[in-house]
Amino acid sequence: MFQNQQIAKDIFYVGVNDRQKHKFENMLPLPNGVSYNSYLIMDKKTALIETVDIAMGDVFLRKVQSQLQGRKLDFLIVNHMEPDHSGSIGLLRKYYPELIIIGNIKTIGMIHGFYGITENLKEITDGETISIGEHKLQFMLTPMVHWPETMMTYDLTTSVLFSGDAFGSFGNLDGAVLDEAMNVDKYWDEMVRYYANIVGKYGSAVQKALQKLTPLEIEIICSTHGPVWKEHITEVVDLYDQMSRYNTTEGVVIIYGSMYGNTELMTETVAQGVARAGVKNIIVHNVSKSDPSVILRDIFKYRGLIVGSPTYSNELYPEVESLLRKIEIRGIKNHVFACFGSYAWGTAAVKRLTTFVETMKWQSVDFTVDEKQGLKPDNYVALLDLGQKLGELTKIDISSPQHCV
Ligand SMILES: Cc1cc2nc3c(=O)[nH]c(=O)nc-3n(C[C@H](O)[C@H](O)[C@H](O)COP(=O)(O)O)c2cc1C
Ligand SMILES: [Fe+2]
Ligand SMILES: [Fe+2]
Repeated sequence: MFQNQQIAKDIFYVGVNDRQKHKFENMLPLPNGVSYNSYLIMDKKTALIETVDIAMGDVFLRKVQSQLQGRKLDFLIVNHMEPDHSGSIGLLRKYYPELIIIGNIKTIGMIHGFYGITENLKEITDGETISIGEHKLQFMLTPMVHWPETMMTYDLTTSVLFSGDAFGSFGNLDGAVLDEAMNVDKYWDEMVRYYANIVGKYGSAVQKALQKLTPLEIEIICSTHGPVWKEHITEVVDLYDQMSRYNTTEGVVIIYGSMYGNTELMTETVAQGVARAGVKNIIVHNVSKSDPSVILRDIFKYRGLIVGSPTYSNELYPEVESLLRKIEIRGIKNHVFACFGSYAWGTAAVKRLTTFVETMKWQSVDFTVDEKQGLKPDNYVALLDLGQKLGELTKIDISSPQHCV
């Protein structure tokens, strides 16, 4: 029944949209859904690249069956074992018991561990190729982008790269699959959010993977989420290069927590100060309202970061603390920083914020503003000054001449 879309010679898209799931990894909101991409090569032998989340296993299986039209499924190539891609392996095996599953040594271990499958597994090594007829497929190990077993598969015949999660984006595929057949504008921010939250910690691994790809002539990138890239390959590779170097563009993200409005008023003042410096990209996030995945996305984009927090039980406001941990874990680089805080009887927030920036080894404005109870005129002026100083710092590119989206 299904008429699957053709990507290149003999290669068909058999992936699915997930419009049901609210949060990816039970954490990251999916306002526009997410696609789990899978590709079937119809050659002398048939080879499927990735499966999909088991929640969508039924539609996926029917798409594969429609394409095969009674033919055997010979190979399944597993570039990545995270269950949004490996979840339907067991189901496929039930329908195609002779199916040979291909992966590297780490993949094979995980297939045992997650799914109890021990038969008909073929282990490949870095650089190895297999021929399935006309198509010759080469495997490239790209560990820690973003699991240890991650790899990519390159079709030497069509110059199509099956890249796993790399170059992927949140967002369903609303009809078209290839970028040239759609308006891709809605995906750029979602690609950065995907990267910042899922891959963000592994910048150096991404850099190594990109170096491995450099000698390849790539016509099409088939990632496991979002559009298939053909027209925009240069942009997506450049975006990954910039993000994995933690390169940023001019702009300031101000995040704050506030229960009763004192720190919020300080935030408004600081923002006004940043604008005085002539910075045009200023994004203010209330940590209790904005989703952390969106805040992280913006931190990956913009060079300046200002954090404001009340003291709470002798510590930071908990939502601010939680966000700082997310930044620390990802080892984000190339940022300039300023902070401020409020308290009622004994200050602690600003101290923790100062320790945070020391850990991150970022440049920071050489003073902080800490208000006891309500905001008063001298600190009002100091906050304007703080914002302006940070704004001026963020205008100097501290990474490289290139910039992010
Ligand atoms: C649950 C709670 C815990 C607090 N803990 C502290 C504290 O340990 N030390 C302190 O000086 N102030 C503490 N405060 C007071 C706030 O830091 C202070 O009122 C601040 O101005 C609140 O900022 P906001 O209006 O932006 O919420 C606490 C307030 C609340 C509601
Ligand atoms: Fe993944
Ligand atoms: Fe994924």
